Amino acid sequence: MTKTQDKKVCIIGMGYVGLPLAAVCAKNGYYVTGLDNDAEKIKIIQSGKSPFYEKSLEELLPQVKIHATTDPKDIKDHDIYLICVPTPVDGKHNPDLKYVIEASQTVADNMKEGALVVLESTVNPGVSEEVVAPIFEKAGFVVGKTVFISHCPERINPGDEYKGWTVANLPRVVGSLDEEGLRRSVEFYKSVVTGEIVPMENIREAEAVKILENAFRDINIAFVNEMAMSYARIGIDITNVIKGAASKPYAFMPHRPGCGVGGHCIPVDPYYMIEKGKENNFEHKFLSAARLINDGMADYTVELLQDKLNEIEKAVKGTRVGVLGISYKADVGDLRESPSIRIIEKIKKMDADLMAFDPYIPTMPNIATAKDLDEILSKSEALVIVTDHNAFKNIPVEDFVKNGIKVIIDGRNCLDKKAIRAAGIIYAGIGR
Ligand SMILES: NC(=O)c1ccc[n+]([C@@H]2O[C@H](COP(=O)([O-])OP(=O)(O)OC[C@H]3O[C@@H](n4cnc5c(N)ncnc54)[C@H](O)[C@@H]3O)[C@@H](O)[C@H]2O)c1
Repeated sequence: MTKTQDKKVCIIGMGYVGLPLAAVCAKNGYYVTGLDNDAEKIKIIQSGKSPFYEKSLEELLPQVKIHATTDPKDIKDHDIYLICVPTPVDGKHNPDLKYVIEASQTVADNMKEGALVVLESTVNPGVSEEVVAPIFEKAGFVVGKTVFISHCPERINPGDEYKGWTVANLPRVVGSLDEEGLRRSVEFYKSVVTGEIVPMENIREAEAVKILENAFRDINIAFVNEMAMSYARIGIDITNVIKGAASKPYAFMPHRPGCGVGGHCIPVDPYYMIEKGKENNFEHKFLSAARLINDGMADYTVELLQDKLNEIEKAVKGTRVGVLGISYKADVGDLRESPSIRIIEKIKKMDADLMAFDPYIPTMPNIATAKDLDEILSKSEALVIVTDHNAFKNIPVEDFVKNGIKVIIDGRNCLDKKAIRAAGIIYAGIGR
């Protein structure tokens, strides 16, 4: 019997973050309850499967037991609660904390005294202290005595497991509202994660780490997107320039330009800090500019399509355009904030004869989707590559030629530019 088997862990939110974490906790001997208010999701998990594709889960889920439930009564008597619910922004980019508030209330209504509550969702500095803690205090708990509240931002990057990073080995930072909470949190994460666990001086710093990490990525991608668009005007291929710059052994970190930034984190989290800044009379000019540039890449991609079609005296209107890729990143089926949606909408508005294909997203409401790659290739005159799925990177140039493709817009710079141009097809990438 392992040391952890007498402890009960409850995870609120069985999504991309919560389910892998639940599986890892169970693997390490904890009794694990997974609560989600999505009954369909819970049914799938109860059948031993994952509601979404994640390679590590395919291996782990059959080996472990997770008590998946929609009933909050089942979460009583647990020792540790991990809150992994969404933290989106609303239509005006304001942080939407309703899921965090609801989940915290559910825990506060059902937990026993002395439990540890860890918020894993990405939030602004201050949310654990100003939003989460008061919910528990209102329910009669005393922070630091009868409830211990911590924040441990999740760093998992779906798809990155192929590079070896999973919830089981990624280093983590933890902050808490008190010493005992920090001690317990570090002890817990050390029992399930092999990566380093870094204790922060306070809970706000732990919250701030995640926002800093994601804003860093958004800003660097925006910077390289701007350079790509500028270099394109003077005929310089940014991908070659980045390769050259990456030979510098220090003070340069390569980032890749592309047709837009998607997912649940990078295009969302900077807005959290932008709003927090506004509350404190601080204007985040840098974060705002990055959001503007990255959000504009969908427009830029569609303009490229228009320009290249014009070169062969065609308009977008009436042209058979195939969009390859609907998900926001390579080899995952996640649609959240995907630039593909905006690119598709724009091309559709321009009255193209549009079809899309994504091997991970077989159907989409209001979008004609091809049943396979052959179908979309055979029905398109122009292609826009939005997601660099392996299936697209490996399309032989002969297949483009055979199907009469005249224009290719490579939104991920993932195709062989020289070979495509040599075959007589008009090619444009993002900055190449
Ligand atoms: N997905 C990622 O790659 C990733 C990486 C790092 C951090 N994060 C952060 O982690 C958090 C969770 O993200 P995710 O991708 O797992 O989201 P998700 O949408 O995949 O999963 C969240 C789950 O929470 C459930 N839920 C919402 N409110 C609930 C409630 N009150 N009670 C029970 N269940 C509830 C939803 O039904 C959903 O299944 C977010 O803050 C996100 O920014 C995500």
